[in-house]
Amino acid sequence: MLDWEHIFATRSSRMRASEIRELLKLLDQPDIISFAGGIPDPALFPDVAFKEAYSDIFSGAQVNAALQYSVSEGYKPLREWIARDVAKIGIDCTPDNVFITSGSQQALDYLGKLFLSPNDTALVTWPTYLGALSAFNAYEPNYDQLSLNGNRTPEAYRDTAAKTGGAVKFAYLSADFSNPTGETIDLAARERLLALADELDIAILEDAAYQHLRYDGEAIPPIMALDIARRGGIENTRTIYSGSFSKTLAPGLRVGFVVAAMPVIRKLVLMKQAADLHSSTINQIAIEHVASRGFDAQVAKIRSVYSKRRDAMLAALDKYMPKTSTWTRPEGGMFVWVTLPEGMDGAELLAKSIATEKVAFVPGKAFYADGSNANTLRMSFSCADEAMIDEGIKRLGRLISSAIRAAA
Ligand SMILES: Cc1ncc(COP(=O)(O)O)c(C=O)c1O
Repeated sequence: MLDWEHIFATRSSRMRASEIRELLKLLDQPDIISFAGGIPDPALFPDVAFKEAYSDIFSGAQVNAALQYSVSEGYKPLREWIARDVAKIGIDCTPDNVFITSGSQQALDYLGKLFLSPNDTALVTWPTYLGALSAFNAYEPNYDQLSLNGNRTPEAYRDTAAKTGGAVKFAYLSADFSNPTGETIDLAARERLLALADELDIAILEDAAYQHLRYDGEAIPPIMALDIARRGGIENTRTIYSGSFSKTLAPGLRVGFVVAAMPVIRKLVLMKQAADLHSSTINQIAIEHVASRGFDAQVAKIRSVYSKRRDAMLAALDKYMPKTSTWTRPEGGMFVWVTLPEGMDGAELLAKSIATEKVAFVPGKAFYADGSNANTLRMSFSCADEAMIDEGIKRLGRLISSAIRAAA
């Protein structure tokens, strides 16, 4: 076999198989209770609405446009729909400020490409979305821990970046119901981040993949909305907001978007022209068709199902987990984040859990840019019903209790 390594570009050495993708294969085994994949429950897909959408497209004059190449910015009526939707949460923008991507994952890749030269620093929360690390890794950055409680000075970030030979370029985070912790960042921390970004003169990448999935508590304005309010309009902002239809409608169509000031949008359009010309025309039309006819009803439906599953997971954790473990109490999204006693290893636990208890989750280490905190687990409640959640957490609680006893 050829030795490819010396032919591959250096950036390829940072591309690693995602533990999550590997674990998704487990979902095919019927006897596994899986809390691993952070994916929507397919039973909740608006499949009838999509059938109608595609049928309308194919039976009308739109079919030729739907099957044709289209503009890189994205389907205009969809961009108009998104501009109206984000206006409801204080993101006042024009459809020109909206750029359609092939899933919001593509936005992360483009933004990595746009901002990161090798050795530049990306500030990320500890832990952060694993897919963001995978997207940014290709651009050979360094990572530094984004502190949201204001206990690091701008100089501290600058000094760390200078030591590794680059500059701080952006802070990436999810403000609402983050993947993996499910946590939401409070208003004061959002304001502090804007002030820090001003001091450092960097961009803020606000990943709002779970924005619509709030089950209780008060909605907090997105960082982008706060930025627009402070700056008097989107053109003066430094925040770049990415959203997705994957968690609300269906991920298989691969439709996501970015909302940003025009200089950023113009660069993204050039990147898309070079990368894939445009996102699927027909899927963008279908998403607009379904969203404009029943988005709110669809969101209400999934919120009602997922909130019960969230409640079931929290109740089961209270009931079955040893008191030495702690976990988050998310107000939305798909995840609960569990912290086990120091010294325990989530990856070892997963191997045992699959073998003896038939329960899957994601070991938390993969979500840390420095691979630390092996004693954490990401548990998704989106795809299991309440009885399965109770049973799965019961088995896991048993396994963790016995692992803690064995270590004592
Ligand atoms: C925080 C976050 N951002 C982005 C994505 C990518 O989603 P998509 O490309 O389907 O929009 C995901 C998917 O799990 C996610 O959890």
